[in-house]
Amino acid sequence: MVQAKSWILAKHFDGFPKKSDFNLKVEELPEPKNGEVVLEAVFLSVDPYMRPFSKLYMKEGDVMIGTQVAKVIQSKNSAFPVGSHVVSSCGWTTHSISDGKDLTPVISDWPKDVSLSLALGAIGMPGLTALHGLEDVLGLKEGETLLVNAAAGAVGSVVGQIAKIKGCKVVGSAGSEAKVAFLKELGFDEAFNYKTVSSLEEALRKASPDGYDCFFENVGGDFSYVAFQQMKYFGRVAVCGSISMYNDATPQIGPFPHLAIMWKELKVEGFMQSRWKDRHPESLRRLMGWYREGKLQCREHITKGFENMPAAFMGMLKGDNTGKAIIAV
Ligand SMILES: NC(=O)c1ccc[n+]([C@@H]2O[C@H](COP(=O)([O-])OP(=O)(O)OC[C@H]3O[C@@H](n4cnc5c(N)ncnc54)[C@H](OP(=O)(O)O)[C@@H]3O)[C@@H](O)[C@H]2O)c1
Repeated sequence: MVQAKSWILAKHFDGFPKKSDFNLKVEELPEPKNGEVVLEAVFLSVDPYMRPFSKLYMKEGDVMIGTQVAKVIQSKNSAFPVGSHVVSSCGWTTHSISDGKDLTPVISDWPKDVSLSLALGAIGMPGLTALHGLEDVLGLKEGETLLVNAAAGAVGSVVGQIAKIKGCKVVGSAGSEAKVAFLKELGFDEAFNYKTVSSLEEALRKASPDGYDCFFENVGGDFSYVAFQQMKYFGRVAVCGSISMYNDATPQIGPFPHLAIMWKELKVEGFMQSRWKDRHPESLRRLMGWYREGKLQCREHITKGFENMPAAFMGMLKGDNTGKAIIAV
């Protein structure tokens, strides 16, 4: 018998998540049936979407949503042999049973010397978000100037690096001096701490006096209002996320960017990375290729211990992480 520990959403988040919103449940898993496998979590991911999605798709008592890299420890499904690794969307749990339908095998020629945790980060969903947001939403071209916020995080750090690979000028904002130094290390042309600049408007203007062709938007709220004013005419905005708004108990209202969108004739498009699901295998290979060539650095913020998952989630929402926030079991 395999014992599974799972983090449960005990109470819907009201404002910023609290420790008491989570409960740890322990249960014995049944034996797998024909066609099923038993999975053991190796690395788990905490991501911003879990905060808004919990409200949309979960009820109290559900296992927290999320993905993990897991090892197959028992198998009655020949597609997933014992010892193989998969990306599973089974949530915040140490062990689970799957019929294989929700599993994606880790890419077949994953190099032995590359940590499988990257399959949850730069060579996983956040990397795909960066790549498809830049290429398929923004259509970023060589020589253009790109702005990205939450730039030192899982998505933002890949966005900036791919934009540099494409020969663009990259400006990034992040929430600490250490993160700003990290962005410079990654090759960002300009980086600033949005928490300490006296004026966001001035910081954006100083970083690119001619404005921005493209804006990869992760933050929303006031930041986005100010950034829209700094776009070039016919600029493009990819709305990837709005993390500054996820924990609001009362939704923020205004200021609204519509005037700037209209008079600068901006193109604004929201997206979910899953739109390009069919192309994900090929895109993951491109990300792995850049990583192997040394063009893509993959920083991780690793928390050890499944028991620390709620703390790691809350820490990520506060900005503790540089790079991808990961839990190593
Ligand atoms: N559309 C999609 O398909 C898709 C997929 C993945 C992610 N996303 C979105 O992409 C964004 C980044 O996600 P991620 O996984 O890469 O997370 P992440 O950037 O690794 O972690 C979240 C970061 O957000 C920043 N943050 C928190 N509160 C903030 C605030 N009030 N203002 C500005 N920054 C704040 C913090 O960094 P600082 O220290 O810099 O504040 C924190 O480290 C999120 O909005 C997420 O929802 C969208």
